[in-house]
Amino acid sequence: MEEQDVISGVVWLNGKLTDYSTATVSIEDRGFYFGDGVYEVIRVYDGKPFGLDRHLNRLERSAAGIELALPMPLAEIGELAKDLTRRSGRENAEIYIQITRGRGRRNHVFPESEPTFLVGVREGRRIPAELLHTGCSVITRPDERWARCNLKTIGLLPNVLAKEAAHRLGAAEALLVRDGLVTEGTSSNVFIWKAGGLATPVADNRILPGITREITIELARKLGYEVAERDIPLGELLDADEVFITGTTVEMMPVVKVDDHRIGNGMPGDVRGDLHAAFMDLIQRNSKGEV
Ligand code: PDD
Repeated sequence: MEEQDVISGVVWLNGKLTDYSTATVSIEDRGFYFGDGVYEVIRVYDGKPFGLDRHLNRLERSAAGIELALPMPLAEIGELAKDLTRRSGRENAEIYIQITRGRGRRNHVFPESEPTFLVGVREGRRIPAELLHTGCSVITRPDERWARCNLKTIGLLPNVLAKEAAHRLGAAEALLVRDGLVTEGTSSNVFIWKAGGLATPVADNRILPGITREITIELARKLGYEVAERDIPLGELLDADEVFITGTTVEMMPVVKVDDHRIGNGMPGDVRGDLHAAFMDLIQRNSKGEV
C-alpha cells in the first residue's frame, strides 16, 4: 500500500471523522473475534458514487440476513457516503462501508452493544488497461464457502485463500466450483457467451447478487442479447466462446484462460466489448447526473 493512500483516505468511524492511519477498533470487536459483520464496496467515478442505492439496498438485506440492526437509516448512510466522498476530494475512489455487531466479551451469543460502523473513502484501484486488451487468466478452485453466499458478510477466508492461490499462479481471479457448477469468482461474478446467448449463475444462496452482474444483465437485455440465469457446469464454461467476470473493482474483465484451457480464440470477445462500452456510457451518464 502506498503511504499517500494511508494518509489521504477519509474515515468515519462510529461518528468520528479520522483517517486510515489513526482509526482503530477494540480487540473485543465482534468483527475481530467472529467475522460478525457485513460490508459494501462502492466505486466512485468522476466524484460520483456509482450504483449507490443498489449497494445500500444490498447492505440492508445483508444486515437483516444476520439479524444486525443498521446503525442509522439507510438514506443517512447514503448521505454520509456522499459527504465523505466530497470531503475526500477524489474523483476516482472507492467507498468501503462495514458494520459489525459491536464489542463485547468473547461469547457466541450476541452482545448488548452498539454496532461498529465504518465508512472509508480512498483512492480507487485502477484496472490495468492491458488486461482489458489481452484478457486475464483465472484458475478454478473448490467453492468451500458457507450456504449463505448471497449475504455480503466480512468472513471471507475461503475467498481469501482461493484468491491467494490465484495470485501465486499469476492469475487474476479464482473461479469457484461447487458440485461441478461454476458459482462465481472470489470477488466477482461470472458470465459466459455461447451459441448466441449469455448465461450467468442464478442469484440464489450460492452466489453474491453482484451489482455489476445486475447492471450487466440489464444492459445486455437492452442491447438485445438473451441472458439466461442458470447453472453453468465447468465443462460448459471451458467450452464457451467468451467468458468474463464482473464486479465493482474489475468492471467487466475478459477471461481468456481458465487453468490450462484457452477460452474461444484466446482473445477478449466482442460481446463483452459491447457490454463494457454500454457500461462506460452508463458511468458517464451517472457522472453527469443523468441517471
Ligand atoms: N466484492 N461476488 C463476490 C463474492 C464478491 O465479493 C463481489 C464483490 C462480487 C461482485 O459484486 P459487485 O458487482 O456488487 O461488486 C461478486 C467486492 C468488490 C470486494 O469484496 O472487494
